[in-house]
Amino acid sequence: MKNIVASLVLASLNKLKADFDIPSDIESKIRIDRTKDKSHGDFATNIAMLLAKPLGKNPRQLAELIVAALPQDERVAKTEIAGPGFINFFVNSDHQASQLQNMLQDERLGVPLAATAQNVVVDYSAPNVAKEMAVHHIRSTVIGDAVVRVLEFLGHKVTRANHVGDWGTQFGMLIAYLEKCENESGQGMDLSDFEAFYREAKRCFDEDESFATKARSYVVRLQGGDSYCYDMWQKLVKMTMDQNQAIYDRLNVTLSQKDVMGESLYNNMLPQVVEDLMSRGIAVEDQGAIVVYLDEFKNKEGEKLGIIIRKSDGGYLYTTTDIACVKYRVEHFHANRLMYFIDSRQHQHLEAAWKIARIAGYLPEDVTIEHDAFGMMLGKDGKPFKTRTGGTVKLKDLLDEAEKRVDAMLTERGTQYEPQERAEIVHKIAIGAVKYADLSKNRLTDYIFDWEQMLAFEGNTAPYLQYAYSRIQSIFRKTDKQPGNITITHEAEEALATKLLAFGEVVQSVSNKAMPHLLCTYLFELSGTFMRFYEACPVLKDGVDEQTCSSRLALCALSARVLKQGLNLLGIEVMEKM
Ligand code: ARG
Repeated sequence: MKNIVASLVLASLNKLKADFDIPSDIESKIRIDRTKDKSHGDFATNIAMLLAKPLGKNPRQLAELIVAALPQDERVAKTEIAGPGFINFFVNSDHQASQLQNMLQDERLGVPLAATAQNVVVDYSAPNVAKEMAVHHIRSTVIGDAVVRVLEFLGHKVTRANHVGDWGTQFGMLIAYLEKCENESGQGMDLSDFEAFYREAKRCFDEDESFATKARSYVVRLQGGDSYCYDMWQKLVKMTMDQNQAIYDRLNVTLSQKDVMGESLYNNMLPQVVEDLMSRGIAVEDQGAIVVYLDEFKNKEGEKLGIIIRKSDGGYLYTTTDIACVKYRVEHFHANRLMYFIDSRQHQHLEAAWKIARIAGYLPEDVTIEHDAFGMMLGKDGKPFKTRTGGTVKLKDLLDEAEKRVDAMLTERGTQYEPQERAEIVHKIAIGAVKYADLSKNRLTDYIFDWEQMLAFEGNTAPYLQYAYSRIQSIFRKTDKQPGNITITHEAEEALATKLLAFGEVVQSVSNKAMPHLLCTYLFELSGTFMRFYEACPVLKDGVDEQTCSSRLALCALSARVLKQGLNLLGIEVMEKM
């Protein structure tokens, strides 16, 4: 409510700007304080006294002008000017109570559907075939999936596009190596260790000339549509994606096999795209290669930079594929909004591909496109997150370790569980903690992967929020009483009410900005506000009258539901007992 009051005051000052010379830094100076004495309302500001001097006005008169220019807001019952020029605000708690009552009846918890549903294509996860999912794929997967859930909750039509790296010259080598393995073992092969597979394939390619020759011929055959090479290629893709699917399922990520739209999907569009760009003079030939030169593309020295879209040997590039990909997403899905959850290091690449797509008209003006970039995941030493020997951290190993650590934590706490229940709790806490650690930081910054921090039951962590949820649920196990009519009397109730009513706004901002950490921060604050309410306002204690009890139970129920829904939008599960 404090923020609401602040924004009203600010709006008033904005209006007064027409007649007065209001200092431009006023926003940072506005102070809204809770009143000590309720007869003076709930919040007060001394802004009129602050401004009196610079504007050369009497503070009480100035206060009157500010009050007169305040926008109407149902959430404020009335204002009063007091003492030397304080402006006091009385919260409209009846209005709050009736809003909360509606929320209690509403499955959507007061979150409206978007006024216009958009077709949104979200590019996320995008691992590479026959390679371990690297850290940037984990971030993309977890953050992208949370945003997808939010968009769908708001009623948008979302297409999940898993832009898997499933095409390129390395496939000759991989097919030749798969063939070698199959011949040697006499049976199919299990690609459980991608890193070793890739490394060995590369070693054969570098050390064995006849292997390398075969690998090169396989690339050509694969590109020419040869059925043997195609089948082998498909096998590699399938083995990789089966393994990744197991990870998605374990992570509670909503991607499935039908969302795979790998680079190969755009392959047959590439010759036409290059032709089209050439025929319209957007691309030109330069020493056998086809290049796009644009004023916008310059290197650090300010020299004009060419973007190659076809190499002189006829090969296409990652950029060419992304140009075709934009065209496909606009034409095929009638997209209004294209979102890409990709490592910030690929920014220049994306900018180049999209600029070309805009100029070529593949990306109409009214379609928005955004690089929802994220920073790196760092180890505690501040260096890129790696295994002790410098290898890629396997996501599977990371999740195994998370579960092991949570299991040990539960042992330490000594709570008794049924084995089945315990396994489920361990799983939900571990996965929740790993995902939340990533989601709760502003995605644009690098973040430090820290087991102790993410698994703590205190602070802005998933275990803390999950615990807050199950603690509220335990209240309902202790009583037959039901949530009833809400009345807001206590300050802590008012604070909780305001927080609960802000849920819809927060969800909307996650959708606008593609920033799930806003929702994390909100849920963390909600839990804190709830805990303060619960300490200050007894619910089931003797002496609490029926009406107060049922009102407070309603606040508890709403808090639990918002927590559960909020965590669900982040792809994190709750449990009734913990
Ligand atoms: N496979 C790529 C990588 O591993 C990410 C692809 C992202 N999507 C895209 N449309 N370029 O870095």
